Amino acid sequence: MLAWAIIRTNRCSRFGLVTGSLNLYEPPAPARYPVRMPPQAPRQRDSQVTSRLRPFGTTIFAEMTALAREHNAINLSQGFPDTDGPDALLDAAARAIHDHDNQYAPLPGLPVLRHAIADTWSANGNRTPDPESEITVTAGCTGAIAATLLGILEPCDEVVVFEPFYDSYRACVAMADAVPSFVQIRRGPEGRFVFDPAHLAAAITPRTRAILLNTPHNPTGTIFDDQQLGVIRDACLEHDLIAISDEVYEHLVLDDASHRSIASLAGMADRTVTLSSLGKTFSVTGWKIGWAIAPPDLTKAVRAAHQFLAYAVATPLQHAAAFALTDPDCDRWVGDLRDRLRTNRDTLSDALADLGFDPIQPQAGYFIMADHTAASSPRGLVDDVAVARALTAEAGVAVIPPSAFCVDRELCRDQLRFAFCKQPHVIDEAIARLRRWINEPARSHADT
Ligand SMILES: Cc1ncc(COP(=O)(O)O)c(C=O)c1O
Repeated sequence: MLAWAIIRTNRCSRFGLVTGSLNLYEPPAPARYPVRMPPQAPRQRDSQVTSRLRPFGTTIFAEMTALAREHNAINLSQGFPDTDGPDALLDAAARAIHDHDNQYAPLPGLPVLRHAIADTWSANGNRTPDPESEITVTAGCTGAIAATLLGILEPCDEVVVFEPFYDSYRACVAMADAVPSFVQIRRGPEGRFVFDPAHLAAAITPRTRAILLNTPHNPTGTIFDDQQLGVIRDACLEHDLIAISDEVYEHLVLDDASHRSIASLAGMADRTVTLSSLGKTFSVTGWKIGWAIAPPDLTKAVRAAHQFLAYAVATPLQHAAAFALTDPDCDRWVGDLRDRLRTNRDTLSDALADLGFDPIQPQAGYFIMADHTAASSPRGLVDDVAVARALTAEAGVAVIPPSAFCVDRELCRDQLRFAFCKQPHVIDEAIARLRRWINEPARSHADT
């Protein structure tokens, strides 16, 4: 038992001692009957959750949403809009349901949707992907992330992940029995969040298989510019790595900055998996229609996993998604959404600054990161988790403590993440509540 535990623990050791000598992945000998299972790793009986997932507990979104409900708080924590997408899109979904298109879609997705994704992507300055062999429709971008990582990674492969990160990345890397290697994104001299190229170079080892990036980035709202994308591209080419690029906020750029897919950089087309989804762009986050765009060999890997994760996703919603991506009114609707988000961002960001927070203007997406130190320290609060809980329970405004997206919790301990994808009157009410909390006599949290 002890020997097995040591083998498990050291299997992905950077020194490769145990893995190298035992060759755990030798193909099994032909089965004899009755088949006997190999001895199981010891299971801790206090939990039925696999050791791969035990470290992750419940997602911070579930925890903060439950706390928000308990305190009747305004929920600026989870990134979902409080209004629906365009009526025409909702009608398209209803039509598809009533037209009796309610059975399984083909595994890679409806052809009409894959063509629409190909056209939209190429209209944004990318190559035209082949809908047959290069596009897979998945259960949201979350499904695309899982299918990509499970489809391409061998056990003990390493994946570079930028920190803070969207929370499913680390869990999916763990489910693939692979190893994450973190590169921090920090506030740079120009006030923007950036990573240090030297840190990226240091994170890459002979076992690195992929770099997982997210631009526009959640939670910071930063867009990786050409220089930062170029650094990642060079690393991929030098070390023969795959880029996995999560671009769910691609259409929600709020400033002059422009979003660019790393797949469009020279040399990257045949080594990039680009991931996105319908939810953020059209305010239908509950539909969970996402996709992966990749060259045929990588698409085969994505589909190899996707076929056993979901096989196919909601057929009528795929029809509606195809409608959304091709209908000019829906396109105009997204333009209006960007305008509304920009106004919300500016209103909330100005108010936060006025209240003693130190917000960093996001270039895209749904979220503002703000340093809470000056606002929270008079109350004896230091840690982002403690501040987020206090704001929810006392001010009635739920936010996310972004250290939940970090391995090095110090990286974001002085920050809070505020979602501004809500109706203006909701943002106004949140600001009024925050103002009351800031102005009321400080309750002591010295022992929190
Ligand atoms: C960076 C990022 N990737 C992926 C997702 C999940 O996308 P979907 O809802 O399409 O699964 C989110 C949702 O918040 C996100 O912020």
